[in-house]
Amino acid sequence: MLKISITNLQPGMVIGHHIYNSDGLLLLNAGTELNVTFIKRLEKVGIGSVYIKNSFMEDLEIPEAIREETRQKAVSLVQKSFRYLQVNARINVEQFEQAADCIVDEIVKNRPAMVHLTDIRTHDNYTFGHSVNVCVLSTITGLQLGYNQSQLRTLALGALLHDTGKALVPLEILNKPSRLTDAEMSIMRTHTEKGFDLLRKQADHIPLLASHVAFQHHEKHNGCGYPRGLTGDTIHEYAKITAIADVYDAVTADRPYRERMPAHEAYELAISLANTHFDPAILTSFLSNIAIYPIGSFIVLNTGEIALVTNTFPNLPTRPCVKVITDADGKRLADPYLLDLTEQLTLFVSSVLSEKEVIELKLV
Ligand SMILES: [Fe+2]
Repeated sequence: MLKISITNLQPGMVIGHHIYNSDGLLLLNAGTELNVTFIKRLEKVGIGSVYIKNSFMEDLEIPEAIREETRQKAVSLVQKSFRYLQVNARINVEQFEQAADCIVDEIVKNRPAMVHLTDIRTHDNYTFGHSVNVCVLSTITGLQLGYNQSQLRTLALGALLHDTGKALVPLEILNKPSRLTDAEMSIMRTHTEKGFDLLRKQADHIPLLASHVAFQHHEKHNGCGYPRGLTGDTIHEYAKITAIADVYDAVTADRPYRERMPAHEAYELAISLANTHFDPAILTSFLSNIAIYPIGSFIVLNTGEIALVTNTFPNLPTRPCVKVITDADGKRLADPYLLDLTEQLTLFVSSVLSEKEVIELKLV
């Protein structure tokens, strides 16, 4: 299956995953062949991208860190709570705890070796899907750092609630479909303090460290973050983890004003922010579970051959297993064959095909 942005969808493409709207209702079944009407409908509800079936990938399963059902439930919970919070200025702690515990339990049970980007969000549930993704990415990192169950639960709850304060930011700023002005940005930035104040009022039920994730997740390692300009180890580790997960998920998501950044570029971006924005040791733990070339990516080898990534390895993220599908001149092979780059040391990935290139080369 191949993730394709809504703008690149074409009639005749077949949907690979069920598609839900922002209320968790099924819009289109996996296996549906797209036509102009379906594409328009997806566009109208603000779906950013969808998974498309691909003949090269029939037997390829893209691993999910948590089950889609768990994700949908958590997203819809965050969404409902956000509305409740806007009216009542408090959150339903128990529901959030349940969702965070559920995510922790699944991740502890599955121990995902690598994270592949598999979710499909509508633009209008970006904030809610984002909180759940940040929770998943943070929990996986906590597990990598050797956290126990109780630490993981607090981290997961903090990550799930990290943007709670956004419920108190005016909707026209929160949902603005273009970049924010400086004035709007300073209002947006108050979500850290607003979130902390709100969560602290329910301190009987919310661990203080989880509230501090909301307070500190925009602080930066070198002190240039907000709201307090904390540096290095004055920032709590849970907030450092959440900060990385927050940026990584934000740049890899489709937004109304820009396309998502491919995984290998997001990986590079994260590395370039080590020591300035991010704690380098925490970043190393985070990246050790992130696939640079996720399963299902089309890459070009240094020989010029085009290949499809079929498997990835945590310790050697730059050397995936691939299926070679064209020769160096781009001619389709009659018999595509598998190559394990951990064993073929003279071969390496020289570039990743963009979505447009994949479509132009008729690889979909
Ligand atoms: Fe935030």
